[in-house]
Formats: sequence, C-alpha cells, structure tokens
Amino acid sequence: MKSIQKFENTFLLFLIPVAMSSCLSNVDEIEEIDPCAAITFSMHVKPIIDNNCISCHSLEGGQSPNLETYNAVSANALRVKSEVVLREMPIGGSLTNDEITAISCWVDAGALNN
Ligand code: HEC
Repeated sequence: MKSIQKFENTFLLFLIPVAMSSCLSNVDEIEEIDPCAAITFSMHVKPIIDNNCISCHSLEGGQSPNLETYNAVSANALRVKSEVVLREMPIGGSLTNDEITAISCWVDAGALNN
C-alpha cells in the first residue's frame, strides 16, 4: 500500500512541471495561430453565406433578413452570428466548426468590409 502511494506521489511530482510547461507552450501556440487573424468578409464570410444562406435569404428566396450583399449582412451581423453559433441556421444544413468560427470572428472584429 505504502509503496503504491509513494509511486503515486512521485508520479504526480513528475506530472506538475510537465503540465505547467505544456500550458505555457499552448499560450504561445494560440497567439501564433489566432483563428481570427486572417478572416475577411470577401474571402471567408461571403462564400459561406452564398453557399449556405442566400438560397432562402435573398430576393428570390424571399426570406428576411436579406443576406445578399455586404451591407445587408453587416446590418444583421449580430443576428447572423447568434443564429449560426446556436446552430439555428442554416435550416436543413450544417456549417463546419471552422465556418462558424469564421463568421463569429468576423462579427466580433466589427463586421468589416474587408
Ligand atoms: C432553407 C432556408 C434557409 C436557409 C438555407 C437559411 N435560413 Fe435563415 N431563416 C430561414 C427562415 C424560414 C427563417 C425565419 C424563421 C426562423 O427564425 O426560424 C430564418 C431566419 C433567419 C434569421 C433571423 C432570426 C431572427 O429572428 O433574428 C437570421 C439572422 C438567419 N435566418 C440567418 C441565416 C444564415 C446566416 C444562414 C446561413 C448560414 C441561413 N439563415 C440559412 C430560412 C433559412
């Protein structure tokens, strides 16, 4: 019994520095690959909306809000973000986590026309 405890203690003492150093290096990694850093409306958000939303949210689709242009999407940015983050939209489809993150990042950064 005692020797098992001793082993556990030694094991835990060994784990603490390993765990701490892995935390420190994770912080560096997160800063290096910030998933929001390179997100733009034209390159990321617009294609996601075009492929997944405007079949309904367009003049032709007839569903409001209209999401066909930058002005229309940015005017509804917070609603768009919450619908996709909560996976309420798109109806009948599903965005990948990366696509949801891209939309969310873009809205958080101010829904810029970039
Ligand atoms: C198959 C048709 C369809 C598609 C595709 C679709 N929507 Fe919708 N959307 C609707 C309908 C119907 C409503 C109104 C009923 C509701 O809110 O569920 C709606 C409502 C909304 C609303 C308003 C919610 C509110 O009340 O504030 C937003 C914002 C929205 N959709 C965003 C999106 C986005 C972003 C996408 C693509 C990622 C998308 N939708 C894809 C049909 C669709």
